[in-house]
Amino acid sequence: MNRPAPVSARLPEFTWDTLDAAAALAAAHPEGMINLSMGTPVDPVPQVIRQALADASDAPGYPLTAGTPALRAAISAWVARACGAGVDGFGVLPSIGSKELVAWLPTLLGIGPGDVVVVPSICYPTYEDGARLAGATTVRTDSLTAVGPTSRVRLVWVNSPGNPTGQVLPATHLRKVVDWARERGAVVASDECYLPLGWSAEPVSVLSPEVCGGSYDNVLALHSLSKRSNLAGYRAGFVAGDPALVAELLKVRKHAGMIVPAPVQAAMVAALQDERHADEQRERYRARREALYLAFTAAGFTVEHSEAGLYLWMTRGEDCWTTVDWLARRGILVAAGVFYGPGGAQHVRVALTESNEHVAAVAGRLAES
Ligand SMILES: Cc1ncc(COP(=O)(O)O)c(C=O)c1O
Repeated sequence: MNRPAPVSARLPEFTWDTLDAAAALAAAHPEGMINLSMGTPVDPVPQVIRQALADASDAPGYPLTAGTPALRAAISAWVARACGAGVDGFGVLPSIGSKELVAWLPTLLGIGPGDVVVVPSICYPTYEDGARLAGATTVRTDSLTAVGPTSRVRLVWVNSPGNPTGQVLPATHLRKVVDWARERGAVVASDECYLPLGWSAEPVSVLSPEVCGGSYDNVLALHSLSKRSNLAGYRAGFVAGDPALVAELLKVRKHAGMIVPAPVQAAMVAALQDERHADEQRERYRARREALYLAFTAAGFTVEHSEAGLYLWMTRGEDCWTTVDWLARRGILVAAGVFYGPGGAQHVRVALTESNEHVAAVAGRLAES
C-alpha cells in the first residue's frame, strides 16, 4: 500500500540539529560551553508572574480560546501602550507562544497551493515552514517591487526588530508594505516579538497610526512574552490587529483546540500589567549586549545592524561554518547565519541570553589561540 508522503517531507532539516557537531566540540572545552546559539531566556521568571500562575493552578474546566475577559483587557491595554495603537478598534487573541501561530497562520488564513507568502530575505525560518505546511510558495525578498505583478501574494511577513539581523524597519518602510498589501488584498503579518528591545533605534509597531493610518485593515501584529518576561517555558503570545481576521482565527482555533492553558492566561495578565520586570530584564540584556559587542569587535568581528532585539549579527568575511567551528573550538556556540537564508552564509548570530558569568568569560575565550 502506498502511504501519502509524510508532512515532514515538506520541511527542511530542523535547524538546530545541524549544529550538533559544533555543540559537541564546544562542550568539550575544559571550562565548558558558552551557549550563545538559541536565544532561550536564562533569567528567572519574575515572582509576580509565578505567583499569578500558582494562584490560578486550580483550573479543572476548559479555558476560553478567546482568552478570559481579564486577559483580553490586559492585551488591549498593553497594545495601546506599547504599540501606540488606538484604545480600541483592533481584535486580540492569545496564542500558545508565537511560534505556533507563525507556523500555522497561512493554514489558518486559508492560504494554500498556488498562493504566495513573502518573507524577509534573511529571517526566522518558521515563516517559510508555515508556508510549506500550507502548501504555498515562498518568495524571499525585502523589496516588494521584486514580486511579479501577477503573483498571488496572500501574506507578507515583516519582522522588526528582526531576527537574526536586529534591523529596525522605519515607519515609512512599513507604511509602504501595508499600502502595497492593501492594494492587493494581502495580509501583512508583523512579527513584533522583539519590539520592547530597542537599543540604538526605536522599533515601530505596524499598529501605530504612522504605519497603519489608524485602520487595522489587513494587518496583524504577533507578540510574545517569551523574551520580554522570560516566559518561553510558559508558551505565552498573542495577536492583535484586523478585527475580522482575528475573529476568523478565533473561529478556526476554537475547532482546532488551540487554547492557552488557564494558569498561563492568568500569568499573562500579571506579566502584561507589570512593566517593572520588563525594564529590569531589558537592562540585563543591554549590559550583556555591550559586553559581547566589545568582546567580538575587539576579536576582529564586524557587527552589522543589531540596533535592537536579542542578537548581534556579525561576520568575519568567511563562510559561516568556518566561524562556527572557530568559535566552537573556544567553547562558544553560535547560530550559523545560513539558518536564516542564503544571504546569511557569511554571518553568525550571537544571542544575548547567557548568564553574566558566561558573558564575562567570552573575551578571554576569543583571545585563546
Ligand atoms: C522572530 C521570532 N518570532 C517568533 C519567535 C517565537 O517565539 P515564541 O514562540 O517563544 O513566542 C521567535 C523565537 O525566537 C523569533 O525569533
